[in-house]
Amino acid sequence: MTTEAPGRVLLEMKGIGKSFPGVKALEGVNLTIREGQVHALLGENGAGKSTLIKILSGAYTRDEGEIFFDGAKADIRTPADAERLGISTIYQEFNLTPNMTIAENIFLGHLPVKGGRIDWGTVRSRSRELLDSLDVDLPVDTLTGRLSVAQQQMVEIAKALNRNTRILVMDEPSAVLSERDIENLFAVVRRLQAAGIGIIYISHRLKEIFELADEVTVLKDGRYVDTKQVADVGMDDLVKLMIGRDLEDVYPKRAVPPGEVVLTVSHLAQSHLAKDVSFDLRAGEIIGFAGITGSGRTETARVLFGADRATAGTMTLFGAPYSPRSPRDAINHGVALVTEDRKRQGLLLKLQVFFNTTISGLDRLSRFGVLDLKGEQGLVRTWIQNLRIKTPTPQFLVVNMSGGNQQKVVLARWLSLGIKVFIMDEPTRGIDVGSKAEIYQIMADLADQGVAILMISSELPEVLGMSDRVMVMREGRIVKELSREQASEEVVMQYAVGHEEAAAR
Ligand SMILES: Nc1ncnc2c1ncn2[C@@H]1O[C@H](COP(=O)(O)OP(=O)(O)OP(=O)(O)O)[C@@H](O)[C@H]1O
Ligand SMILES: [Mg+2]
Repeated sequence: MTTEAPGRVLLEMKGIGKSFPGVKALEGVNLTIREGQVHALLGENGAGKSTLIKILSGAYTRDEGEIFFDGAKADIRTPADAERLGISTIYQEFNLTPNMTIAENIFLGHLPVKGGRIDWGTVRSRSRELLDSLDVDLPVDTLTGRLSVAQQQMVEIAKALNRNTRILVMDEPSAVLSERDIENLFAVVRRLQAAGIGIIYISHRLKEIFELADEVTVLKDGRYVDTKQVADVGMDDLVKLMIGRDLEDVYPKRAVPPGEVVLTVSHLAQSHLAKDVSFDLRAGEIIGFAGITGSGRTETARVLFGADRATAGTMTLFGAPYSPRSPRDAINHGVALVTEDRKRQGLLLKLQVFFNTTISGLDRLSRFGVLDLKGEQGLVRTWIQNLRIKTPTPQFLVVNMSGGNQQKVVLARWLSLGIKVFIMDEPTRGIDVGSKAEIYQIMADLADQGVAILMISSELPEVLGMSDRVMVMREGRIVKELSREQASEEVVMQYAVGHEEAAAR
C-alpha cells in the first residue's frame, strides 16, 4: 500500500531535458512539489540534481519539457522569472555580498523607497523580524563577511523569506554544517514547511532524508527513476534506486594489521586553535579524528601538511625530524592533504580535469624538465576510471563538473603521486553512497599497501566504520583515544562535547 501525498500541488516540472556539449545532463525528468512538503532530490554524483534546480531557478534554460506553477504554465527563462513566482534557491556557494550588512543583503535589489529615499527604518525592522523568526541573535548591521557558514545560510533563508517565497530550494545545505547547526537548520525547515512553503532538499545523507523529507525523487544518469513517499521506503530501497543495485559492506574489511610508526606528533600547537596534540600514526593504519567544528582538527592537519607552522611541539616522519615549511615541502616528504573545502583549497576550478589530477605530480612526471604528456595522460585515465569520475573527456573543465566529481578529482590528484601519509579532511563530504563505498575501498586498499591515513570526519558512521583508532578532539586537545572496539557514536559524541562523566558510566 502506498500513502497519498497531502497538500495542494504548487509546482510541476514535466519531461525536462538539458544538454551540455558532450553531456546529456537531463532527459525526461519529472518533479512535483506540494505546499508544505519537503521533497528530497536524490541521486549519485553527476545525476543531474543541481542542473534540474538551476533550470527551476532560471540559472539554466531547459532544452525540453514544461513547467507549471499554481496550475498555470510558467515559462521560466531567467532568475527574475523564478523570483516573480516565489521560487528561491540557496546554492552551496552563497550569494551574499561580504562587505554589506545582513540587512542590506536581505534587501539587496529590493530596497524599499519612501518619499524618494531608501526606507532604512523598514529595512532594519523587517530584517530584525526575519532574523528573530529564525532565532538568529545577531545585529542586523553585522557585515556578512564576518558570519559563520551556518549564520550565512540563515541570512540566505531570511533573504528568501523576505521575497515571499513559496518554493525554497536548498542544494546540499547540510554539507557545510556541523551537527548542531544541522539540527537548527532542520528546525527552521520544519517551520517553513508548517507555513506552507514547498521545500526541495538535496542531500547525500540518507539519514537526513528519513528525518526531514515527506517525498523523494530519485535521478540516475540524468534520467527520472521514481518518486516515493519516504514513509513507504527503507534505506536499502533508496540506495538501490540510486545506484541500480544493492550495496553491501559499505565499509571494507581490512586485511593487514598496522605496522611501524610512520609519524609521531608530540605536544603540537598552532596559535590558540590546536593547543596540545600528541599521537602516532602507523603504516597501514587509519586514524579517525572526531570532534565538533572548532575543536582544532583542521588546524592540526594544516600543520602536518605545512600550510601553517607549528607554534610549539615536534614531529618526526620515518624517524627523522619533520617540520614542513610549505605544502610542497610536505608533498616532497610524501605527505598529502585532501581538503574539506574543495572549492577554495583543493581544486583549481578553472583547470581541466587533466591538469588537476597531475598538478602536484608534475615534478615526478617531468623527466629532464620535459613534461611526459603521454605518461601523464595514461595515469589520469586510470584514476578517472578507478574512481568513476564522470567526465566526457580528460580535457573537461572541473568547474563544470558536479560537486561530488570535483571531490574525486582531488583524490585522483594525490593518488597518482604515490603518497605515504594521507591526511583527509572530510574526504566524502557531498559524495553519494555508491562513490563513498568506492572511496572507502580505496582507503582500505591504500592502508593495506602500507599508506598511513589520518581522517578528519564529522560523519560518525564513517569514523567508526573506517578507523583502527579514534581520536576525539575538543578545544585544541585530544581528549580521548578510543580503540575500534571502544568507539561508539554515543561515546565519541560525549567526549566531543565534554560530557565524559556520562561516557564513563
Ligand atoms: N555548465 C555545465 N557545462 C557542462 N556540463 C555541465 C554543466 N553543468 C553540469 N554539467 C554536467 O551535467 C551533469 C549533471 O551535473 P549536476 O551538477 O547536475 O549533478 P549533481 O546531481 O548535482 O551531482 P553532485 O551530487 O555531484 O552535486 C554532469 O555530468 C556535469 O558535468
Ligand atoms: Mg550538485
